[in-house]
Order: sequence, then structure tokens, then C-alpha cells
Amino acid sequence: MPLPRIGLAVIGAGRMGRSHAQLIAAGAPELRIVAIGDVDGRAARHLADEIGAAAFADPLAAVSAPGVDAVLVAVSSVHHREVVEAAASAGRDILCEKPLALDLADTDAILAAVDRAGVRLQVGFMRRHDPDHVRAHARIVAGELGRLLLFTSRQYDVDPPPPAVLDPRTGGGIMLDMGTHEFDSARFLMGSEITEVQATGSVQLFPEVAASDDVDTAVVNLKFASGAIGSIELSRRVAFGEDVRTEVHGTAASAFIGGLPIASGSAIGWEGGIRWDASPPSTPRFAAAYTDQARAFARSIQCDEPVSPSGADGRAAFLVAAAADRAIRGGGTVRVAELESDRPAERLRPSPAVRRPATSGSART
Ligand SMILES: NC(=O)c1ccc[n+]([C@@H]2O[C@H](COP(=O)([O-])OP(=O)(O)OC[C@H]3O[C@@H](n4cnc5c(N)ncnc54)[C@H](O)[C@@H]3O)[C@@H](O)[C@H]2O)c1
Repeated sequence: MPLPRIGLAVIGAGRMGRSHAQLIAAGAPELRIVAIGDVDGRAARHLADEIGAAAFADPLAAVSAPGVDAVLVAVSSVHHREVVEAAASAGRDILCEKPLALDLADTDAILAAVDRAGVRLQVGFMRRHDPDHVRAHARIVAGELGRLLLFTSRQYDVDPPPPAVLDPRTGGGIMLDMGTHEFDSARFLMGSEITEVQATGSVQLFPEVAASDDVDTAVVNLKFASGAIGSIELSRRVAFGEDVRTEVHGTAASAFIGGLPIASGSAIGWEGGIRWDASPPSTPRFAAAYTDQARAFARSIQCDEPVSPSGADGRAAFLVAAAADRAIRGGGTVRVAELESDRPAERLRPSPAVRRPATSGSART
């Protein structure tokens, strides 16, 4: 007998809310989208009409609407807490986009609200549901790579992010907005907590991020509790296309996840793709991951099982991102445990210690 479908409210009808809603409607039969909520009522109406759901300009009314069992939170990151708290008090299970929140106090308030209400909270680290990551993870867990030595990853975006994502006051800055994916991926694949970070960054693409004391290009070095090490590169924009590649190297074998469409030799990546294989992929890089994370969320509710990644995973990635952010500002090595005592507002306060290089002519504003 088929399990009952989960009625879903999607809150946030921007870039990600739209993408989630379209992917779920097309490929997640466990879910039925019944409500779309956005403070921008026109955006909510537009997406709701496309999906065949009810539109709400009051997102809090959407989460408690009849037929809603669960809520997907895809609003600007600075507003996650208010939507999650409303969904938890309405007794709804929650799939919340990353990062959970922009400071530790809000992160902990979210975890407390979910705990009090006894609802599920899955964090939108969708790579844990990406078929390529799932396969590599299974081989690592089976011991096929031997003892893990080294983690490397890069995340280069192609399009300028929406202003609310680029602005650290609403998006959290590059470490929380982009870095958290890598920090979660590192914890997931290496099976070990990140204990220390070093980081450097610069403003080369979007001069406006300098005004808000962020960077658009960054490199982070990691040390794991296991003794393994790692490095992560982040860029807000490269010309040729979204590029996410991850490697895990062990004593017996290496795992490579994601790759350029090149068999051998060198190539030039430019706007439109790689010169040797210029056809861009027909689906977004992580379409299957987004669909599978929503299906896994729905199945956890249907089968009364825990979700993954959990709120605790969201908190752990937050702490590493905040440590990397501190390392960019102050230099040197930052121990992740130091961030446990972080206070709200402190992290985003401009620091005179930050050195900002002159912006180059490559900016696209
Ligand atoms: N998992 C991923 O790969 C991935 C990629 C991009 C963005 N994200 C995350 O998705 C979230 C949304 O990002 P986006 O790129 O769609 O941003 P966006 O700016 O395109 O959309 C945000 C939407 O939220 C709405 N909104 C803002 N505050 C609201 C509130 N209090 N209640 C209801 N609606 C509200 C805005 O009107 C807007 O339509 C962010 O948390 C971001 O970090 C995740």
C-alpha cells in the first residue's frame, strides 16, 4: 500500500524556492506541494500558479495552512530562524536551506525550537544525497580507500548570486553561504570533525562585498581530528560554468567526485563552457541531489525515521564556517572549539585587522 503523501509548504519563492518546487513537482512523488509562501506576494502567486498550490504573502499563514505536514524553508538565510520557529510551533517537520542561521545564538535557538516541538529538522546540505557523493561515501565507509589522508574541494559559482545572498548581512558571507557546503562535505566524507582552520581571501570580482567586509575568493586549509588535512577553494564566479569538484585521498585509493568534461590534456574554460566540450550539461549540476534530499526527507516522515543531515550537522558546519571567517579576518590558525563562545553580532562586525586588496577591473556588478 502506498504511503500517504506529505503535504509541503515551500517558503521562499526566489531562486532556490522555485528550483526546489519545480524539482519536487517533477520528481518527488512522496511530496505534494500545497502552499507557497513569500513576503513578495507576486513571487508566491507566480510560483503557486505554476505548481498548482495556494499562494500566501504571509509566510507564517502558509506554514499553518490546512494540509501542510512539512515545510521547506528557502527564504534569505537571515530569516531562517523566524520561519523555522513558526513551522516548529505549528508542529511541522522542516527541511531548511543552509546555512541554518547567521550566528550561533540563532542556530541554537533553531535547534531548541525544533527540540521543544519534537519535529524533524533536515539541513539542505544536498550533497549528502547526491548520487556521486553517496557512491563515494559508501566506498569510503567500506574501507576501500584505506586510511584517509587528504580532502580537497573547490566550489566556483558561475552566476552572480542574488543581492540578498551576496550581502553578508542577509546571506552570511562567503564562508557561511558557500563554505558550509564544503565543511559539511568534508565532515561527511572524511568521517572526522574539523578541529582547526587557516584561511585567506580577497575581493577580486564584486567590489560591493568589500564594503560589507567580506571576500569573494577564498582558500581554507583544514585539520581533522583524525590527523588528516584538507583544503577548500571558493570563488563567487568563474566564466565557464558552475564547478564543484571534491577529492578524498587515502592510503589505498582515491575518490574523485565531479569533473570537467575533459578526457586529457589542457583546455580553456570560458563563458559558454569548456572549449573541447562546449555543450553545457542539460540539468543543473545537483538536480538529482536536490530531488533526492526532498525524497529522503519525505520518506523519513513517512517511515518515522531520523533525517540526515541533522540540525547538529548544520551547527557543526556553522562553527567551521565561523572559524574560517575569523581566520580570514585575523590570520593564523583558528581552533573550531573557540567559536563555541561566539556572541551574536560579534562575528559580522567589521574588524580593523582585515586587509582589503584593491579591486580589479574584472568586476561584474
Ligand atoms: N543548497 C544550495 O545549493 C543553495 C544554493 C543557493 C541558495 N541556497 C540557500 O537558499 C536560500 C534562499 O536563497 P535564494 O538564492 O533563493 O535567494 P533569493 O533572494 O533568490 O530568494 C529568497 C526569497 O525569500 C523571500 N523572503 C525573504 N524573507 C522572507 C520571509 N521572512 N518570509 C518569506 N519569504 C521571504 C524573498 O522575497 C525571496 O523571494 C538561502 O538560505 C541560501 O543560502 C542554497
